[in-house]
Amino acid sequence: RASASNDVDAFIGCLSKAIPCHLVKTPGTKSYSKLLMSSVQNLRAIMPGTTRPAAIVAATDPAHVQATVVCGRRHSVRIRTRSGGHDYEGLSYASIHPGEHFAVLDLAKLRTINIDATRSEAWVDSGATIGELYYAAAAVNKTFGFPAGNCPTLGVGGHLSGGGFGGLARKYGLSADNVLDAVMVDAEGRLLNRSTMGEDLFWAIRGGGGESFGIIVSWKVRFVFVPETVTIFSISRSRNQSAIDLINKWQLVAPVLPRDLYLRVVVQNQQAAFIALFLGQCGRLVDTMRRYFSELGMTQQDCQEMSWVQSTVFGYFDTASLPTEVLLNRTNADYFVKVKSDHVRKVMPREVWESIWDKWLEKPEAATVMLDPYGALMGTISPSETPFPHRNYIYQLQLFSSWFENGTETLEKRLSWLRGVYEDLTPYVSNNPRAVFVNYRDLDLGTNELEGNVTSYEKAKVWGEKYFKGNFERLAAVKRKVDPEDYFRNEQSIPPLPAAI
Ligand code: FDA
Repeated sequence: RASASNDVDAFIGCLSKAIPCHLVKTPGTKSYSKLLMSSVQNLRAIMPGTTRPAAIVAATDPAHVQATVVCGRRHSVRIRTRSGGHDYEGLSYASIHPGEHFAVLDLAKLRTINIDATRSEAWVDSGATIGELYYAAAAVNKTFGFPAGNCPTLGVGGHLSGGGFGGLARKYGLSADNVLDAVMVDAEGRLLNRSTMGEDLFWAIRGGGGESFGIIVSWKVRFVFVPETVTIFSISRSRNQSAIDLINKWQLVAPVLPRDLYLRVVVQNQQAAFIALFLGQCGRLVDTMRRYFSELGMTQQDCQEMSWVQSTVFGYFDTASLPTEVLLNRTNADYFVKVKSDHVRKVMPREVWESIWDKWLEKPEAATVMLDPYGALMGTISPSETPFPHRNYIYQLQLFSSWFENGTETLEKRLSWLRGVYEDLTPYVSNNPRAVFVNYRDLDLGTNELEGNVTSYEKAKVWGEKYFKGNFERLAAVKRKVDPEDYFRNEQSIPPLPAAI
């Protein structure tokens, strides 16, 4: 213990030569807690008993990132990098291992966005949020969009590292499919770009999950085209308004709709909301819905036309009447979260939906169930093009549980609901392995164990193949090449591939 705290002191001493001391906070300092909590997006991960950082470095320059890695390695202090703090298990700011000494490298102030409008490209720092990116893109050109998730405070750093899925995926793929270059700091503290890091490492950082390979400082992204006017609707149906029949039909229809139409389902409070983003105007959307999904009864009255950037406000806040400036707000969460997720290849029989609804969805502790369609472009991209292998499913299923009451009883109830549904879904969802999206981090799948001084590859396969299928071995091979000593390590980081494999 004494030697660990000596290591931390030596680490901080080392940092002081490269980083102004007001940017480094330790538990005794005044604004440590404020900085720690500034982007915590899940109170479950920071409850008493979890291990908090021995220091937080609020980097404002890539040189600070380099110095943190160099000093961290020199003095045996590991780093957890935090961009937006949305990791569902809090891996960017807390550890499940009691007594672990680590520092958080907080990138929230590294957030510049530089747009090259003539090339429809931008360099965006990891500490920017996707809301800021959406806003900046639209401010330059209303027809610039970017395929990413639907929560504006998501950090670019973690989100792109894990793939990044959202309403433009059926037409343009994941965020990671639209990354052209990146600047990162490796385990030696070197600043690399695409040409100096090489194509294997560039492949791994676009979907292989955060933390494992180094720290991405900046990403060069390609904007995609969105029309000046898009159309959205949200139609809710209760069970006695045929919600189950409609979900059943949705499974057949949503993955084969034209690529301009993304139609998701969100089941909450015993209502199934059918929420659409259409890259076009109302008239064409009504025709399309009539042709593919007349049972929903969608009409012109359901349409709301707006700019694409305004639709991202609607996508998260469920109202289009807020100004787009809300995309620039940075908030931390005042609730607890646990998520489980899955993928579906074959429509689930109607009776399964009936029994899930009867047995689970009527309970007060029920999670929100989100069904997000794939198909269109997603289905045409090879599963090995990026580390994200789940291209050939019809949809993604997410059980998102969030609650405000602190306490073990509530936590246990929530967890047992999630685990119970996950278990009951087993025969109808992905198998061998169960397919999970790494951005929906879930430590129930397994956590790393050490073998000697590095993470065990064999043990990590248990969770790793669920996230990455056959790409897991390639990710581990990249890790062996770029970080053989396994400096960048957390509960589910990619282990180095053993030399014998
Ligand atoms: P955070 O800072 O917690 O980082 C996540 C992981 O990446 C950590 O392991 C961290 O160490 C590492 N990391 C962070 N920055 C890094 C960097 N610069 N270099 C290397 N490693 C880095 N996902 C999705 O695809 N679509 C969606 O619509 C949503 N929606 C959503 C809503 C809400 C409310 C939450 C809480 C989460 C989502 N997500 C999501 C999941 C989200 O994409 C995922 O948690 C991302 O990793 C979040 O990135 P942050 O930078 O915010 O997280």
